[in-house]
Amino acid sequence: MYKLVIEGGKPLHGTIKSAGSKNSSLPILFASILADSPITLNNTPHLSDISTTLRLLMSMGSEFILESDSSLFIDSSKLTNLVADYNLVKTMRASILVLGPMLAKYGEAKVSLPGGCAIGTRPVNFHLKALEELNATIEVKNGYIYAKSEGLVGANIHFDQVTVTATENVIMAATLAKGTTTISNAAQEPEVSDLCFCLNKMGAKISGIGTSTITIEGVKNLKGVQYMVCSDRIEAATYLVAAAITSGSITVKNTNPQAMRSVLGKLIEIGADIKTEKDTISLDMKGRRAKAVNIKTGTYPNFPTDMQAQFTALNTIADGHSSITENIFENRFMHIPELIRMGADLSLEGNTVVCKGVKSLTGAHLMATDLRASASLVLAGLAAKGTTTIERVYHLDRGYETIEEKLKLLGANIERVQD
Ligand code: EPU
Repeated sequence: MYKLVIEGGKPLHGTIKSAGSKNSSLPILFASILADSPITLNNTPHLSDISTTLRLLMSMGSEFILESDSSLFIDSSKLTNLVADYNLVKTMRASILVLGPMLAKYGEAKVSLPGGCAIGTRPVNFHLKALEELNATIEVKNGYIYAKSEGLVGANIHFDQVTVTATENVIMAATLAKGTTTISNAAQEPEVSDLCFCLNKMGAKISGIGTSTITIEGVKNLKGVQYMVCSDRIEAATYLVAAAITSGSITVKNTNPQAMRSVLGKLIEIGADIKTEKDTISLDMKGRRAKAVNIKTGTYPNFPTDMQAQFTALNTIADGHSSITENIFENRFMHIPELIRMGADLSLEGNTVVCKGVKSLTGAHLMATDLRASASLVLAGLAAKGTTTIERVYHLDRGYETIEEKLKLLGANIERVQD
């Protein structure tokens, strides 16, 4: 097992490139099932969630070739096994995205229920109800979803709550359904739009992309294409916070400032100078300590839950009192006790983290839990006085491509060491 060892207290300076988006790549890889010919994906990140997806698709009959550094050729046009096994699904909840495409293309699927995870119970009821409305019959038994359809039929789907992957599952299923599907209260996250752009390139007829009402006219078949995945806004934002928490200055290239407006607004509020160009963001703290900010997470375009833990770390050593309210997941606070062990003054009141900024944190031995909680511990370690050791780095490898290498490029004193 690997751990990260960080000597904190060094302001970060320099330039890095943002990687391709994890949460765009995953649905698009599953969408390859819908195509009748292979897909080439450019800008895919090197992440363990991508490897898990490839392993799952391979277990069902897909073939793939890593063509170059970040290009992937995948042929999922003829699956031979319509079962998504528990052993692969349990390690990555996004595996539920296999359901819509399999049902649409083959009229049947057996997919393990993903189960709960560190950030909440995360049921899949909205996925299943919506697919039933598209004329699928679904039964859940022995921990598996058994789905069948004589042919999916378009329908009006309304989500009671905005949900990213359920919106994606329904969009993918509806591309090959008979007739028109309209999704209201659809997720508007940029990753949902990226999936839609790719599907349209494959021959789908999706309109209303990026809005809360998405319309999909079913087509007979989809073809393989070459597609460039969008950049990872959460990765980019995490590095910007790394610079902010260390009172440094960095530039992130290959990114999309438009998709990060809520986060950039909060970074301006903490006192950062932010400059944006078409695909570049520069942050400069001018050596200043951050000012504390209040945050409420929400669905896009509001402040993303995937940045809540990182801003909590930033608030711990910011000037002033603050509160951060988590409105998406009921239990996304695994980082709190660990940050307290570093000297943070945090308390949890319901779904709100109340924080009194302290002058500094001290390094400690920490345990990474879920992906974004782990990122917040890295950020705290970069700012803390002394040595921070973070165990269970595999959580970070799910969503951050070679995090220690990118941080080293920015001057951080960080090493990955084996136990
Ligand atoms: N929900 C239900 N039933 C459902 C589906 C969702 O109750 O059938 C609830 C969830 O429990 C949650 C809320 O609805 O309380 C919203 O969840 P959503 O379905 O939007 O989350 P997700 O699709 O499972 C994606 C991202 C997450 C990100 C959330 C919110 C992917 C692969 N995952 O998850 O990313 O936090 O949307 O934006 O796209 C991450 O990258 O670290 C990560 C967790």
